[in-house]
Amino acid sequence: MNQGTGQKLYQKAKTLIPGGTMLLSKRPEMFLPDNWPSYFSKAKGCKVWDLDGKEYIDMSIMGIGTNTLGYGNDEVDNAVIETVKKGNMSTFSCPEEVMLAEKLVEINPWADMVRFARSGGEANSIAIRIARAASGKDKVAICGYHGWHDWYLAANHNEGDELSGHLLPGLSPNGVPKNLKDTVYPFNYNNYEELLSIVTKNDIGTIKMEVVRNFGPEDNFLQKVRDLANQKNIVLIFDECTSGFRETFGGIYKKFGVEPDMAMYGKTIGNGYALSAVVGKKAVMEAAQKTFISSTFWTERIGPTAALKTLEVMEKMKSWEVITGIGEKMQQKWKDLASSHGLSISVSGIPALSTYSFNSEQAMEYKTYVTQEMLKKGILASTHFYACTEHSDENINRYFNELDAVYNTISKCENGKMNIKELLEGPVCHSGFKRLN
Ligand SMILES: Cc1ncc(COP(=O)(O)O)c(C=O)c1O
Repeated sequence: MNQGTGQKLYQKAKTLIPGGTMLLSKRPEMFLPDNWPSYFSKAKGCKVWDLDGKEYIDMSIMGIGTNTLGYGNDEVDNAVIETVKKGNMSTFSCPEEVMLAEKLVEINPWADMVRFARSGGEANSIAIRIARAASGKDKVAICGYHGWHDWYLAANHNEGDELSGHLLPGLSPNGVPKNLKDTVYPFNYNNYEELLSIVTKNDIGTIKMEVVRNFGPEDNFLQKVRDLANQKNIVLIFDECTSGFRETFGGIYKKFGVEPDMAMYGKTIGNGYALSAVVGKKAVMEAAQKTFISSTFWTERIGPTAALKTLEVMEKMKSWEVITGIGEKMQQKWKDLASSHGLSISVSGIPALSTYSFNSEQAMEYKTYVTQEMLKKGILASTHFYACTEHSDENINRYFNELDAVYNTISKCENGKMNIKELLEGPVCHSGFKRLN
């Protein structure tokens, strides 16, 4: 493969930026080491242009799930441009934050109050601080991924590698104070007995979890967690940073009829503009006044402007239904294509955040090959597909027409007629988060 401007810039980036990028999931090594275009000059709808002006359809992670209304949505961008013209910052606060708080309370009727931040990890840290202040207890039980902060990584200071099933195996908590040991206890999704045992043995004040990630609740799991929290006076927090606004207008918890005491939203709430929110019951949220939670750029105006407009557009077009329909189509077509080539794959995730894996010892080689070959056809593809409203049938059909030939070759590799290692033009991609939820 020819090295383009982006590939060369990434080599430089690695000498200037530890890890090359600020987000693990965007590292070129996660897609196509050495050959990923890496940087964009322009993005619109579900298309991205690299630094050499080459156009791609994004059939992969769509900015890691930030843009369910597509890149550069006109309505959202125009609202932001108006804010830029009027002024983004001042000594006064922006009224949009109050309007947005009101809207989020309307969307989450059990909640009374809201705090804003700009990233999901920040919102998670805020929620934990408030919950600890409200409960008066330090210990937290968690299930899922909740960001990079000390409170979360502290789980890896317990015996062994407690986060290994939840985050990256071998995730190192270097730099996280060791005296945070035994403050965070991970539990596996759908394993109520494990949670019960953690709560019984430790003085847990908070349970924080993703409501659904790769598979849904079984045996009334969510309601059992809610009942346990009620019995023990535990603050129950649902982390909807990624699941929010993908299956309902709000949290995915709405599908299951179980309400938390606090919830966080992030990712797509501002359609690519930075905004995250912590919503909660008054009795819990008021504990924010008993501690110190404050930051300059949580007061800027672009985030709340973008979120207000994004929510308006989402509600108008019922975007969660649109992206769920698109995701369902993708999942079915992956299964059909795989079976037509005699390949075994496992499809998982809610439809709007679909993913699949090859059931083969050479799964990572095949994944890399998919990315390599689809890139040549002008398509960004991995084994994840995060849907946006701009993914048309035409995009989907073009993707599957190209994927057909790729699967055909993979099938020959599976049958020993070809050797995948000889087909790869660079190193195999790195594996992502391993999750138990
Ligand atoms: C459920 C959940 N919580 C928190 C985060 C962290 O958000 P951010 O990367 O914006 O800090 C993520 C990000 O993937 C997430 O999926």
